[in-house]
Amino acid sequence: MLIKKSQDILSSEITDQAIYRERRKFMTSSIGLTAAATLLPLQASVAGYGGQSLKFGENTQFNTTEEKTSFDKISNYNNFYEFGTDKYSPAKNAQALTTDPWSVQIDGEVEKSKILHLEDILKQHALEERIYRMRCVERWSMVIPWIGFPLAKLIKQAKPTSKAKYVQFETLQRPGEMAGQRRGVLPWPYIEGLRMDEAMNPLTLLAVGLYGEVLPKQNGAPLRLVVPWKYGFKSIKSIVKITFTEHEPVSSWTKVAPDEYGFYSNVNPAVDHPRWSQRKERRIGDFLKRKTLPFNGYAEQVASLYTGMDLKKYF
Ligand code: MTE
Repeated sequence: MLIKKSQDILSSEITDQAIYRERRKFMTSSIGLTAAATLLPLQASVAGYGGQSLKFGENTQFNTTEEKTSFDKISNYNNFYEFGTDKYSPAKNAQALTTDPWSVQIDGEVEKSKILHLEDILKQHALEERIYRMRCVERWSMVIPWIGFPLAKLIKQAKPTSKAKYVQFETLQRPGEMAGQRRGVLPWPYIEGLRMDEAMNPLTLLAVGLYGEVLPKQNGAPLRLVVPWKYGFKSIKSIVKITFTEHEPVSSWTKVAPDEYGFYSNVNPAVDHPRWSQRKERRIGDFLKRKTLPFNGYAEQVASLYTGMDLKKYF
């Protein structure tokens, strides 16, 4: 059951009032560069709605009671290829990313395309904590207390047309700040996608924080997807565009290795990755491995989405 502790989250409540007003002035200013230059230090102090605690309600409906992975591990062992291909570079390199101001373009099969500013998104959707298991395709897992709101809420607001069968997500492309994008390790921008019913499932979140604070940049600030029954790479970070499509989107990983990374990528211990088994995983911090569960333990909530589908074929 959802117990709302706060109704509407105003960004004016999240950010110190004085800073908030100054920032509004900056964002609505038409003076341009001069104003930006004088206000930049101030902007930096609120970067990513930064360092601020978030107000959120509790939604224990889907929460796991398993031990949470520490903040330290969650924010220092990351996959974020825009900031390097090893697990430790994102925590260092992602600090170069400017996350405020931030906006998200909504387009494709919708009644009307639009650009949403993050602070307005935050005003419109009450935040909840969701403690989810996350399983990476590389066989490690974590338990993360996300702060976010159901993607379904934003989709309803976007008013997709009857042609919209899929949702495609796109990460920011800004090689000046994203060192990894200066190398062709993946086709940039990072793209992911979901089928509409997957996107509308109440488990699917848009996250803006974890452990009660705004997302660390290396975890996908300021806005990322969280799909806990799918391998981690589906949970795309630092989203700037959401496009409703008639046809199945092709994700960056599918482009690179279609035999290894399928569109669905549901956590499935019965379907091996071509180069390794997916039967077991190591929870970060544990010594022994544990068995991987179908749909990462969320079968009750999502297995019915795939009734009648051959999940070996649609991996
Ligand atoms: N999103 C973008 N834009 N770029 C990435 O490289 N990596 C994915 C996913 N989202 C990735 C991304 C992978 S492989 C995983 S396992 C998760 O982010 C890791 O999220 P975390 O670092 O917050 O644990």
